[in-house]
Amino acid sequence: MAAEKSGVDNVANFYEGLGQVLNIAWGENLHYGYWEDDADDSTVGTATARLTDLLIDLLRPASGDTVLDIGCGVGKPALQLVAARRTRVTGITISDVEVARAAENAAAAGHRDLATFRNADVTDLPFEDDAFDAAWAVESLLHVPDRGRALAETARVLRPGGRLVIADTVQRPPLDAGSRAVLDAFRAAYHVSPYATADEYRDLLAANGFTGIDVRDISDKVVRTGRVMADAVAARRDELARIEGPEPVDQYIDLMRRAAASPGIGYLVIAATLGPASGA
Ligand SMILES: C[S@@+](CC[C@H](N)C(=O)[O-])C[C@H]1O[C@@H](n2cnc3c(N)ncnc32)[C@H](O)[C@@H]1O
Repeated sequence: MAAEKSGVDNVANFYEGLGQVLNIAWGENLHYGYWEDDADDSTVGTATARLTDLLIDLLRPASGDTVLDIGCGVGKPALQLVAARRTRVTGITISDVEVARAAENAAAAGHRDLATFRNADVTDLPFEDDAFDAAWAVESLLHVPDRGRALAETARVLRPGGRLVIADTVQRPPLDAGSRAVLDAFRAAYHVSPYATADEYRDLLAANGFTGIDVRDISDKVVRTGRVMADAVAARRDELARIEGPEPVDQYIDLMRRAAASPGIGYLVIAATLGPASGA
């Protein structure tokens, strides 16, 4: 248990250190952007919001639904969901700094009544069974070593028929040496678990009672993210280095550039429903 706890603390420290610096350079949607094609010159803000919109469409929540946001960051995707669908969102993260920032953002957006945030670990959720109509995990499960337990907990707190949407960076075997080296470096630097594969997600979701599992590889739509993120950080390198020190900032720029050029690293969006397939 002690080792698990320190793993969670490491992730929290990352989001309270370099993660906050990245918020300054990238914006508060701490996830990938979606660009239609090479000619699409959308800004980072537009592209990251577009990815959130895609996830909202896959989640299909009704007005008033209760939604669990697993790994909510500073609340930007949750607030976009509330604004789009008038849902009630509970966001969880293992960082107190993020909880506080997310609450401030909800208040600023006038949604303190519909969006609340608290510190909780997805592998040990402090909620009753069947508490939520829907859940999403936007680039958070990459940090969780026991994804099976995370999905079992998510299934427990979702009502039967509830929707789950996952967005995550994954590995695409067989891995070339360059992709493997980047994945290893990510693991060491950013406290991410071995990246999942599409098959692992399919198996874990099925084992935890999800059906209608829809796995979409949108790597080609989001691949620009690594380069653009690296450029955004590089453009403010000196300012960010004064906050967090030069080494982590330079390492981040290098790794994001290499990740963008690694065919073994991909990106999935997954939607599934808890319980028997309709008509079964
Ligand atoms: C890449 S950020 C994504 C933030 C947000 N979903 C977004 O798209 O802006 C990953 C988030 O997952 C959270 N996280 C990591 N491990 C977690 C865990 N075991 N339980 C809950 N949240 C976790 C981090 O604190 C962080 O908020």
